[in-house]
Amino acid sequence: ELSEEERLFDELVANEQRIEPRDWMPDAYRKTLIRQISQHAHSEIIGMQPEGNWITRAPSLKRKAILMAKVQDEAGHGLYLYSAAQTLGITRDEMMEQLITGRAKYSSIFHYPTPTWADMGAIGWLVDGAAICNQVPLCRASYGPYGRAMVRVCKEESFHQRQGFEILLTLMQGTDEQRQMAQDAVNRWYWPSLAMFGPPDDQSPNSAQSMKWKIKRFSNDELRQRFVGMLVPQAEILGVTLPDPELRWNEETGRYDMGEIDWDEFFEVLRGNGPCNAERLERRRTAHEDGAWVREAAAAYADKQAAKAVA
Ligand code: 3HC
Repeated sequence: ELSEEERLFDELVANEQRIEPRDWMPDAYRKTLIRQISQHAHSEIIGMQPEGNWITRAPSLKRKAILMAKVQDEAGHGLYLYSAAQTLGITRDEMMEQLITGRAKYSSIFHYPTPTWADMGAIGWLVDGAAICNQVPLCRASYGPYGRAMVRVCKEESFHQRQGFEILLTLMQGTDEQRQMAQDAVNRWYWPSLAMFGPPDDQSPNSAQSMKWKIKRFSNDELRQRFVGMLVPQAEILGVTLPDPELRWNEETGRYDMGEIDWDEFFEVLRGNGPCNAERLERRRTAHEDGAWVREAAAAYADKQAAKAVA
């Protein structure tokens, strides 16, 4: 027997209406959203590092200005998403604590290094491309604050994706060495970007329920297929090769056949054993500690203002 509250919740979801912070929701729905949105926020914040790494070495003033804007966008996305998660009852401090103590997950993709400038192109094209594929359907997520945050985030991601494509295009029109650098970066980022969509559907414990709740609209494998379909014609324009010899369109199944993703590597990265996990967390922790005086000053100022208001 459903309670009146449960019935109303189910009805809102079924009718494609939004659940808002003050609405009743099942505990498990709240928990899933806190999990997904906080992981997403952490990913944006940690995601500033691989590219932040190149701001001082961007090859021109214009490239530097673009890259700085992009990294700032990611900070903005993180803050939006932390705010969306806060509407569900978790505090910013709790989330920050989970991140810097290494208990929180964040996207596997940000555990990989960025040794060359071409990585800025490959990240924009592949990583932000994957992010768009994953996040456009999230604009329709049943939880209002999350869906609305995704609209703005996706607009900015589209710009990020284009700037990455344009970096690679420029390199591909350059010297043999530059073309090789672009191809190497694509080789290194292609497989990790496919893994961003999460484990295969039959090993994705959260998908079925999240789809019933209309948080997720497509399964991990469906989105991965979509992404590859988007990449193939773009790779042709760029003149780069996607590093999967088994990749081809299958007329019969109406899907791309592809090689096997290295899931052992993926799960190792999730366990904290990726090439950059420790470094990324350490950098975040240091930044947090270095910012302590700002938080203290802001709190002292707020107290003073509050005291003044009372007086
Ligand atoms: N990296 C790290 N962990 C991952 C992962 C990945 N690529 N893919 C899946 N996982 C984790 C899940 O979080 C889950 O762990 P948990 O149960 O302990 O929380 C576990 O693996 C099982 O996966 P499921 O498929 O069951 O999990 P979900 O249903 O949550 O699906 C998801 C995973 C598709 C990543 C989904 O959470 C999602 O769509 N999240 C929102 C988007 C997001 O977080 N993107 C991160 C990249 S952000 C970005 O690219 C920003 C850009 O500016 C660079």
